[in-house]
Amino acid sequence: MKHTQLKPFPKDFLWGASTSAYQVEGAWNEDGKGPSVIDMREKYPEGTTDYKVASDHYHRYQEDIALMAEMGIKAYRFSVAWTRIIPNGTGEVNPKGIEFYNHLINELIKYKIEPIVTMYHFDLPYALQERGGWSNRKTIDAFVDYAKVLFENYGDRVKYWLTINEQNMMIMHGKAIGILDPNLGERELYQQNHHMFVAQAKVMDLCHQMLPEALIGPAPNISYVYPATSNPEDVLAAQNFNAIRNWLYLDVAVYGYYNATAWSFLEEKGYAPTIKDGDREILKKANPDFIAFNYYATKTVEAPAGEGDEKGGSGDQEIVIGEAGVYKGTSNPNLPTTDFGWQIDPVGFRITLREVYERYRLPIIITENGLGAIDKIEEDGTIRDVYRISYLKQHIEQMQLAITDGVDIFGYCPWSAIDLVSTHSGIKKRYGFIFVDREEFDLKELRRIPKQSFYWYNKVIRSNGEDLSELTEYVLPESKRIM
Ligand code: BG6
Repeated sequence: MKHTQLKPFPKDFLWGASTSAYQVEGAWNEDGKGPSVIDMREKYPEGTTDYKVASDHYHRYQEDIALMAEMGIKAYRFSVAWTRIIPNGTGEVNPKGIEFYNHLINELIKYKIEPIVTMYHFDLPYALQERGGWSNRKTIDAFVDYAKVLFENYGDRVKYWLTINEQNMMIMHGKAIGILDPNLGERELYQQNHHMFVAQAKVMDLCHQMLPEALIGPAPNISYVYPATSNPEDVLAAQNFNAIRNWLYLDVAVYGYYNATAWSFLEEKGYAPTIKDGDREILKKANPDFIAFNYYATKTVEAPAGEGDEKGGSGDQEIVIGEAGVYKGTSNPNLPTTDFGWQIDPVGFRITLREVYERYRLPIIITENGLGAIDKIEEDGTIRDVYRISYLKQHIEQMQLAITDGVDIFGYCPWSAIDLVSTHSGIKKRYGFIFVDREEFDLKELRRIPKQSFYWYNKVIRSNGEDLSELTEYVLPESKRIM
């Protein structure tokens, strides 16, 4: 649909930026923090760093938040490390962990930045993993107890809560993210998935009981799936993958029931989880207030060729995906790709927003969207990430078109506020508005440098999304340059 006039972004639109605890904080074993599955990960892809120091945000959060305030963001979406709060996953609460996030939240409030808290972003406590992780129903109770501690301690200042980051990616690509036992079978994975659904539902319900003013929602990764052609068999394959990758997760979170196509896939493959008495009631009772989702690019699939359509082994965007008899992933020849092979599809962002809104009719916040690239410091000390500006500009334009289409969007938090360690490509794959001067195995001084995109995003925010034009000049103060 071509609009003759665009609707503006809402007046109090939450222009924000995102991070996650394990990718940005570092201080992996300090001040009583317990180990998470990420900390105990044995292998990293060759040439990539671990998360022990990351961007050292734990020690530098004040400097980082001051920079975020200078950039002008209205919201900061970060995650709490479960193992800082409850080092063993259950039981004793760590006062130092509580204190850290108290300081972080207070610092944000000082600058009038709205905290948006993800409760769990891939970093399950290792102590729980040793007891079966999400295969063990006791992990549901552990998550609820942990949520209660968060609500009690931060509920007076945090209005927006996100339950689980990208549950769908954990299930589909947890092995690439390095958080799953590589020997775990698919049936067991979908049992874990079911337990996460129950945990999420219980926590949403608890939030509404304890904090009537707060708002809570799920945070999956949603990417609309295209059929490779108009061949009805390709269209069916796209429906299949949309159901398995996207709607399964949102249907359970919003409506409290399993998507029919996804359930028939689970049954057909022998992956259907055991659903205990009472679970369906728990799922039904929970009502999210909004949908948060992460968007990077659409996916394209074609009709399955037959045997041999197996899943590939790496991350969501760069792999050959497939399920025998269900769908087969293919690339979309209409789309360009990033340096890291991810497709770029801003129009797909509008399509995905429209689709999610039509299906669920809940307000939407985008909690991740961004470009992973290799940034370079120029001789004059600047970082001219015009490619990132171009990526974000195109996505913001499409978001405004979606708003004009009638989609209720109340915030946009690109990935990432500051450079951090990628899930499986190390620090060299950067997403931030703020550069962190370190390399894979050389921490240097971890100095912070605002990139060109930092000043561009500031202009976007100041104009409430009206001015997306290029920056006419990018003047980095002498004090912020490394030469
Ligand atoms: C999302 C995750 O999947 O994508 C983030 O929530 C992640 O944790 C981001 O960093 C980008 O992926 P990657 O693999 O490039 O780090």
